[in-house]
Amino acid sequence: MKISIIGTGYVGLVTGTCFAEVGHHVICVDNNEDKVKMLRAGGIPIYEPGLEDMVRKNVAAGRLTFTTSTAEGVQKSDVIFIAVPTPPQPDGSVDLSYIEKVARDIAAAITSYKIVVDKSTVPVKTGEKVAETIKRYCPAKAEFDVVSNPEFLREGFAVGDLMKPDRIVIGTRSQRPVAAMKEIYQPFQAPIIVTDINSAELIKHAANSFLALKISYINAIANVCEAAGANVQEVANGIGLDDRIGRRFLNAGIGFGGSCFPKDLSAFIKIAEQIGYDFKLLKEVQNINANQMERFVKKITDTLWVLKDKKIGVLGLAFKQNTDDVRSSPAIDLCHRLLKDGASLRVHDPKAMEKAKSLLPGVTYVEDMNEVAQGCDALVIATEWDEFKQLDLDRAKKGLTHPILFDGRNLFDPAEMEKRGWIYKSIGR
Ligand code: UGA
Repeated sequence: MKISIIGTGYVGLVTGTCFAEVGHHVICVDNNEDKVKMLRAGGIPIYEPGLEDMVRKNVAAGRLTFTTSTAEGVQKSDVIFIAVPTPPQPDGSVDLSYIEKVARDIAAAITSYKIVVDKSTVPVKTGEKVAETIKRYCPAKAEFDVVSNPEFLREGFAVGDLMKPDRIVIGTRSQRPVAAMKEIYQPFQAPIIVTDINSAELIKHAANSFLALKISYINAIANVCEAAGANVQEVANGIGLDDRIGRRFLNAGIGFGGSCFPKDLSAFIKIAEQIGYDFKLLKEVQNINANQMERFVKKITDTLWVLKDKKIGVLGLAFKQNTDDVRSSPAIDLCHRLLKDGASLRVHDPKAMEKAKSLLPGVTYVEDMNEVAQGCDALVIATEWDEFKQLDLDRAKKGLTHPILFDGRNLFDPAEMEKRGWIYKSIGR
């Protein structure tokens, strides 16, 4: 199939590359000239395991090209995917201006039948608006169909998620685009759900808010465990073995972050309100998440008392492991809280230090995770990187003035840590 992808962010770049990998011809469009130059030269603007090699391979094979011209992308393809950002606005609703602009650009360029697919996460009813806009602004009055095809990839695992998806959702008003959509996804061998546009859009918001709910639920259970002297990991294992519940996304911590869950929750609550439903359940998911960070900070201040003039080592800046993404990262929020209370910080992240620097000035960036503890009053783990499990605990202990570890991601075993002489505080255990 001849495909163009408008917007070369996380979703756009990974989707385009994986489509090329299975043999489609893909043109990725981005209005950022520097990014397009970088991609043409074989570099990628994000850290995502496995992606760089796949981009290079498909560029070399001539199946993946990059341009800054939407018109070129539209004219040279049969199916046009929209993967531009849908950032939050101060009131929690979604800024759809990028989507609207792309819809007008597509309208200006189409002269024959095209399938326009929305992959960006959008509130329900956006597809209807996109269709109206293309119709209104298309001088050639060309035929087209709008399809909603939400993406479920996770950052850090994006290539694997895209190549082996749990399901493909295709939302459309007419049958005409279904065969082409099925052909695009046939190599991925996943169950395909064909539904209407509004349901497809809702599936995305409903999925992300359910996953966020699962995390807030286990965080609330963690708080009960702390009060009752129980262990949240044992509880998660015990309930997770029930197929109906499942063990994944039941890791208690300092709360969820990233560019999706917080934004999508706010957006879903807002759109529900606009169409007449007060989604109190999801508001509580947000409250538990915010409270989780406060509880962790309190744990630190309960132990260290005054943070002014204290030096704290922080492991982890990315919003989760396997990514260099620091957008809405709980780890960065935590650092800001500690700095506000007067602490000075030595920080480390395996991949996110460069991106953190503009958000987090005035801290010491340490290249070697085993050096972070040096001269500190306590060590904090803020991101669930697997690497941190290999931390040289004896060396860290020697470097600290007191062997105190606040583990916001439950990476170590409390009994073992105590045995090794640590004052070890984790979540819900
Ligand atoms: C999330 C969804 O998992 C994807 O399915 C979806 O496609 C994506 O949003 C999106 O809408 O684009 P992502 O934001 O990349 O993916 O990251 P997750 O792996 O879902 O993690 C989100 C946050 O939850 C992280 O801060 C992570 O630390 C936290 N988390 C996750 C927990 O605190 N506990 C868990 O058990 C799992």
